[in-house]
Amino acid sequence: MQYGEKSLLRFTTTGSVDDGKSTLIGRLLYETKSIYEDQYAAIEKISQRKGFKEADLAYLLDGLAAEREQGITIDVAHRYFETPKRKFIIMDTPGHLQYTRNMVTGASHADCAVIIIDARNGVLTQSKRHGFILSLLQIPHLIVAVNKMDLVDYQEDSYAAIVEAYQDYSQKLDIHDVTFIPVSALKGDNVVEKSGKMPWYDGPTLLYCLENIHVAADRNLVDFRFPVQYVIRPHQDFRGFAGKIVSGTIVPGEKIVVLPSGNRAVIKSITTYDGDLPEAFVPQSVVLTLDREIDVSRGDMIVREKNLPQAGNSLEAIICWMDETALSTTKSYILKQTTRHVRALIKKIVYKIEIDTLHRMPADTFLLNEIGRVEISVATPIFYDPYRINHATGSFILIDPLTNNTVAAGMIRNAPRNIRCEISAVRAEGAGTGNAASKSPDTVWSDWNIPRETRERQNGHHAAVFWFTGYSGAGKTTIGKLLERRLFDAGYRTMLLDGDQLRHGLCGDLGFSVRDRQENIRRAGEVAKLFFEAGHIVICTFISPFARDRQFVRSLFPKTGFFEIYVNCSLETCIKRDPHGLYKKALAGEISEFTGVSSPYEEPPDPEVVVETEIQSVANIVDMLLGRLIRENIIREDALV
Ligand code: ADX
Repeated sequence: MQYGEKSLLRFTTTGSVDDGKSTLIGRLLYETKSIYEDQYAAIEKISQRKGFKEADLAYLLDGLAAEREQGITIDVAHRYFETPKRKFIIMDTPGHLQYTRNMVTGASHADCAVIIIDARNGVLTQSKRHGFILSLLQIPHLIVAVNKMDLVDYQEDSYAAIVEAYQDYSQKLDIHDVTFIPVSALKGDNVVEKSGKMPWYDGPTLLYCLENIHVAADRNLVDFRFPVQYVIRPHQDFRGFAGKIVSGTIVPGEKIVVLPSGNRAVIKSITTYDGDLPEAFVPQSVVLTLDREIDVSRGDMIVREKNLPQAGNSLEAIICWMDETALSTTKSYILKQTTRHVRALIKKIVYKIEIDTLHRMPADTFLLNEIGRVEISVATPIFYDPYRINHATGSFILIDPLTNNTVAAGMIRNAPRNIRCEISAVRAEGAGTGNAASKSPDTVWSDWNIPRETRERQNGHHAAVFWFTGYSGAGKTTIGKLLERRLFDAGYRTMLLDGDQLRHGLCGDLGFSVRDRQENIRRAGEVAKLFFEAGHIVICTFISPFARDRQFVRSLFPKTGFFEIYVNCSLETCIKRDPHGLYKKALAGEISEFTGVSSPYEEPPDPEVVVETEIQSVANIVDMLLGRLIRENIIREDALV
């Protein structure tokens, strides 16, 4: 995210005061010149009085501790600092006993987390618990600062033992980016300045790491979700809906749906204090006006017509229990998700997770700080996305209506099995036999030896076709390759069919005339169908410039299994990218009938998905597409790595 000119990194720190957390934050603030000289002098004085040689920077933070202990419900202190390279917000959570609750509230919006481990103590359960919660919260980047290296004589052994033990544990977690750094917060080694006392370590300092973490790809810029906070009606002629965009982007003129009513309208304007905006995106707070009068109230959600969240009365979620009173499956709670409050019942505890071993255990209840999977039913349907795809609409808290305490925080998993079954039933009715229009004379269709449904059962997922269309150089192949890689690595059966590849071999006899392209796409579609019938997730990347050819391909598949993805990118940018130097040749007249230059491209009027490669990163697009596969119940959320 951009914050003025510089990018912004929000990070959280975990570890107890004993691990040196306050000192580490103090050191960062001090050495980046984020505290005043007089503050430093005062700290020095206190430290000397207590008999320390150095200024104990922990006092900088502990001054605020008392105010934080006063029963404030969400104990998160935000601290700001900046370097020439980046701005930072530290979301600090005090490390007292109720750490789960504090971590969940403090860390859920963080881009990165710093886990502090005392070099003398090795990896304790608490550090594992922190890592585990951070992985549940899907914090994408983790830094393990092995602190107090001065107290182990800067020896490599102590550090290496911790790295090995923690790596062993973190490999089982869903966090892919873990960095280890040996530091001494008290003496300033490897926090901002590189230490001269640990020649065996040649990695970066903590600040360098924080300055260079890449976070842009971690946000959901695709699924527009606007929970309505309140309705504004200053006078007869104005009616607007105020709220915060929790994900995605929106522009005037887009078609929207209001949930739960299902009423449709078009965005007329996006209004802010500073006037109307041509576009708004997460996390802006704006007022939307619509082109017609429809009923909208607080708690409703405005979304794009073609990009709906899931809706339902049943949820599966991972929850962290945060209350002294144990979870009850007979009591009714209030579930708060975005701006909505609904009555909820925890129907079933699926399992509890043993943090040390990550084993799943049967359980009848959850006690304070326990974590596990539950099934929840809500009195009125809520609109949500799995947390993996959307942290804002995929998370919730549970409130005890009697005490008003927040008793749990939850992350929604995929739709429960019953919805999946209904969709499977619909799917089974879908396309089947050959296409009568393209059959040889005197042939009789006979069904596949092993039906697709049987193969799907064996594969553990449904078949689907993702058909990417767009200009040469728009990014179809790049996205297709990464998407296939992610699915393949997670154990799914996949096949990528690419224009340039099929034109070596099967379609090697074809050129680029309208007719040849038609035949090219027909063959590609038929090959895709074979893989589809074999139960694969088939990813097809062809320019496929003509609507009629794409329509033919679509007709080969059941509605629930085919997704046309328009890879939108301006011709200008494609020409700039020109990966094979073909635009240059086409523009010089050396290649004829080149799409965009001397042959037309017909934009899809109604694709299932539009991606914008000039705006979104490839990783982001792939995450979004994986989310779509999960939402369509083609793959299971838990199976993705
Ligand atoms: S399609 O139009 O029939 O769908 P397809 O995706 O198979 O095309 O192949 C496009 C690839 O062929 C491009 O990525 C490009 O590398 C190459 N190519 C060669 N000549 C042309 C041309 N005249 N127009 C478009 N692509 C061409």
